[in-house]
Amino acid sequence: MKGLLRLRDLSTEKIQEIIDYAEKLKGGYKVSYPDKRFATLFFENSTRTHYSFMSALMNLGIQVLDCNVSASSVQKGETLYDTVRTFESIGVDGVIIRHSKDGYYKELEGIKIPIFNAGDGASDHPTQSLLDLMTIYEEYGRFEGLKCCIVGDISHSRVAHTNIEIMERLGMKVYISGPEEFNDNSALFIPFDEAIKTMDIIMLLRVQFERHQEKMEMSVSEYHEKYGLTLERMNQMKDNAIIMHPAPINRGVEIASECAEAEKSRIYKQMTNGVYVRMAIISMELEGKL
Ligand code: NCD
Repeated sequence: MKGLLRLRDLSTEKIQEIIDYAEKLKGGYKVSYPDKRFATLFFENSTRTHYSFMSALMNLGIQVLDCNVSASSVQKGETLYDTVRTFESIGVDGVIIRHSKDGYYKELEGIKIPIFNAGDGASDHPTQSLLDLMTIYEEYGRFEGLKCCIVGDISHSRVAHTNIEIMERLGMKVYISGPEEFNDNSALFIPFDEAIKTMDIIMLLRVQFERHQEKMEMSVSEYHEKYGLTLERMNQMKDNAIIMHPAPINRGVEIASECAEAEKSRIYKQMTNGVYVRMAIISMELEGKL
């Protein structure tokens, strides 16, 4: 299948190539594909990923069909395959898909146009990881030896799962922290207050209530007290350590409002970089270089 479904299918060299190309695009390098047309299909809520992909497509001069899933024939029972097959048949050159089902793209065997995964269930979120890596690389100029702790709702997070695999492959030391109920052993567990003092990167996650089968045991104020990034905790971070978060952020839960806006925060830079990594992968695919 063409496009980008899982980051683990790309070599570390290819990932570095994407980051370097995204930097070049951020620096003002222009490419344009005015005869191309893409469709965005978001079966799950999204602000950043959805509109960042749309901005990336628009920056590349690509025409965008933004599919309103709730007003489409999906509501008449049409399958994902038939929906994508329709876009392919009407002349679309690529699709961006977010879906709550893990590995939804397995149903799309036979589709010939490139598919870019904007998040599938709790499995993968390749472009989020790429923008995280670009932001880390801008900060440190390397990956090898950097220590990153991902904190919070690990077990429901496609961001955590994609990042752990690639960060370890790039030579980073990855840890997880937060409530025991969200620990799925996908990396080494470290107590939060120890992580705060020793990590180069503290990556916070939202508590993904919509994915929970059972109600979280603690209240949000208790969560903030035990696992939230407060001003007091932020002041214990290493001098050049940074705060990251894929967002949406829940101020006062996993992060205090002041920390989101603090000098150490790279949260808004992550959003900016998201547009460039998405431009990079789409352009590389259209040039046969992905
Ligand atoms: C994340 C997602 O949807 O996986 N957000 C994002 O894409 N920036 C994380 C989340 O929803 O908490």
